[in-house]
Amino acid sequence: MEEDILILAIESSCDETAAAVVRNGREVLSNVIFTQIALHTLYGGVVPEIASRKHIEKMNQVIEAALSEAGVTLDEITAVGVTYGPGLVGALLVGVAEAKAICFAKKKPLVGVHHIEGHISANFIENRDLEPPFLCLVVSGGHTHLVLVKDYGEYKIIGKTRDDAAGEAYDKVARAIGLGYPGGPKIDQTAKEGNPDAIAFPRAVIEDAPYDFSFSGVKSAVLNHINACQMKGIPIQTADIAASFQAAVVEVLVTHSIQAAREYELDKLAIAGGVAANSELRSRMAAACKEEGIQFYYPSPKLCTDNAAMIGTAAYYEYRKGVRHGWDLNAVPNLRLGEFR
Ligand code: KG4
Ligand code: ZN
Repeated sequence: MEEDILILAIESSCDETAAAVVRNGREVLSNVIFTQIALHTLYGGVVPEIASRKHIEKMNQVIEAALSEAGVTLDEITAVGVTYGPGLVGALLVGVAEAKAICFAKKKPLVGVHHIEGHISANFIENRDLEPPFLCLVVSGGHTHLVLVKDYGEYKIIGKTRDDAAGEAYDKVARAIGLGYPGGPKIDQTAKEGNPDAIAFPRAVIEDAPYDFSFSGVKSAVLNHINACQMKGIPIQTADIAASFQAAVVEVLVTHSIQAAREYELDKLAIAGGVAANSELRSRMAAACKEEGIQFYYPSPKLCTDNAAMIGTAAYYEYRKGVRHGWDLNAVPNLRLGEFR
């Protein structure tokens, strides 16, 4: 019997302070998340300086809680996995410094993880049968990528957004129609009461790059619609706008993903990132995959938004490949997927 590999994982790239213990890659022994959302809501979005300060305040507590819930001591940990990019530099630095300190004091290997690799890896946790190759649509607050997962830790980006990320568009539209921050879950809820065909918002298609995305057009169309209503003195139909905006975004995400799966002859498709928690995207993608005979994978909502369990899973596969980082590991705010520093 091989010895268990226990990863202590740390995530602090944005506004979630999180730690988890993951056994042998796919078994989550604990997954503790301190969300700062309430703090940032006041300002209508994430304030980087506040996020960093709160990470410092909460980091040790969250790690202690993750270890105690897992019933594991620091000495029993095999390695520490930490998100080192992309994200807010000050926020990332808190996690990276913490991970380095633990590894130095306890003489443990340090494994730096790409945040998006973490999101993709969230799919491995509840789907024990999922193995690469597969296609993954990554939709978060900062990213919209169609990724070909060739093998563990081997990625090819086949499409990405040219402007706003899907989550960013959700957040901006939510703010414009007065739903507040974070906009994604609020639009998801409000859209259930609206008519998705009420307003025809544009579905952007980019010539010569069928798998790229653009969401700035639909965002501007929503703002124009609101202005037009105000000029004419017509009350804004919040639920209809939310439903019609969501229909436009989801349609593009689904059609691009299915087309790519077909072209690359992949019979497995996964979704990841905060927007993957969206109920409309989940049901539309499930229906489209069923029709195409594609196996559809998705993490539960808690594993879609930022968490450390997904970082632990990604760190496990990196660790198995022999990836070890030194004390010079730094936060890399614009780290690219597949890049090794
Ligand atoms: O992955 P994530 O937690 O953080 C980043 O890495 O960016 O994603 C956060 C994004 C936010 O834009 C948020 O509005 C969006 O995910 N989001 C949703 C839903 N839940 C979170 N968007 C649509 N529907 C949801 N249910
Ligand atoms: Zn994220």
